[in-house]
Amino acid sequence: MDKNTILCYCKNISLEDIFRVIDNGASTTIEILDATGAGTSCGRCIDRIEDVIESIIEKK
Ligand code: FES
Repeated sequence: MDKNTILCYCKNISLEDIFRVIDNGASTTIEILDATGAGTSCGRCIDRIEDVIESIIEKK
C-alpha cells in the first residue's frame, strides 16, 4: 500500500497521515482516529483503518 493511499475519503486521510500521528505518540486505534479525524463522518472506513493500524502496530 502506497503512503498516499487514502484510507478515509470523507476526511481525506492517507496512510501517511496515520503514520504521522503514530510517530507523534498515538498508540491505540481510538487515539489515531481522534488525532486524524478519520472515521468521524460516514464511518465506513473504520474497519479498514483498524486493520491497517493493527498491522502497523504488530510490525513495531
Ligand atoms: S470514509 Fe471515513 S468517515 Fe467516511
